[in-house]
Amino acid sequence: MKKIKIAFLGHGNVGGGSCEILSENMELISKRIDKEIIVSHILVSNMDKPRKWPTLGAKLTDSFEEILNSDVEIVVEALGGIEPAASYMEKALKSGKHVVTANKAALAAKYPVLMAAAKDSGVSLLFEASVGGGIPALSAILGNLRGNRFFEVSGILNGTTNYILTKLGNERLAYEDVLKRAQELCFAEADPTADVEGIDAANKLSILISLCFDKYVHPEDIPRKGISDITLDDIEAAKSQGKKIKLLGTARVKESFELTDAPKSANNSLEIDYFVEPVAIDETHPLFNVDNEYNGILIRGDAVEDVMMYGKGAGPLPTGSAVVGDILKIAENL
Ligand code: HSE
Repeated sequence: MKKIKIAFLGHGNVGGGSCEILSENMELISKRIDKEIIVSHILVSNMDKPRKWPTLGAKLTDSFEEILNSDVEIVVEALGGIEPAASYMEKALKSGKHVVTANKAALAAKYPVLMAAAKDSGVSLLFEASVGGGIPALSAILGNLRGNRFFEVSGILNGTTNYILTKLGNERLAYEDVLKRAQELCFAEADPTADVEGIDAANKLSILISLCFDKYVHPEDIPRKGISDITLDDIEAAKSQGKKIKLLGTARVKESFELTDAPKSANNSLEIDYFVEPVAIDETHPLFNVDNEYNGILIRGDAVEDVMMYGKGAGPLPTGSAVVGDILKIAENL
């Protein structure tokens, strides 16, 4: 059986969760793709730290250069943050290695550069885990939805804030306590400001805009409002009207029309509006019942009309599920 060597950059919640899945399901995976995945290196910042997740016999190293100069074919970037993650990915792509990442911040900030590096080197850059955790939304957009002109993509894109809003609404717990719980469950970013201020959702929306509308919008250019100003009174007031407050990331073409009357000119030249903001939605809204760390992504296409995808948007194993799926997609074709 052909062996495919891969390396992880980072062994925290995302890298570790992915290693856990590989460790648990390796036999099944090898049978499915008829190849053996060898985790050859794992880049860690502290070599002496006890490891929470399986290392699969990999060599731990604190040198990215060692991985770059090795014979690994796939680099899995799971460091988080923009730098050095983006530079490492660019270097790996330029040296002919395929890259899988869950890193929405690095990807959204450097999307054009990273895509160009992948294209120039003729390698894959896959990032399913960067939006919607375990939901295979990007594979759907780039796969069987690809024949559509898209008019809107809107979703609950951040698990931490959805968890906080759900718990505040249902259990009237203190904001800080719920945030702490979300951190303990490994939903939150290293700096949870990115979650509660809508920065993480804006990163994900930027990626969705690139895929659905073929245009790049830097996440800092997406108007955003987070949930840190939302009070229990706001949540109660919404509840008394049968509504829930959800943090939505939305991009839609400015022109309004019924799907059946949609202009047939290339919609990708149409202007789009985009924003991240808390919205009070009622039970008729398809995202009304998306609670806790679940994410929901709604897409409107001219042919398919409305599609909604739902699943766990945060957490080591749901995110790892998407990472491992990307690794296997590449490995299968090598
Ligand atoms: N902090 C992110 C969230 C993790 O809560 O959605 C998954 O991207």
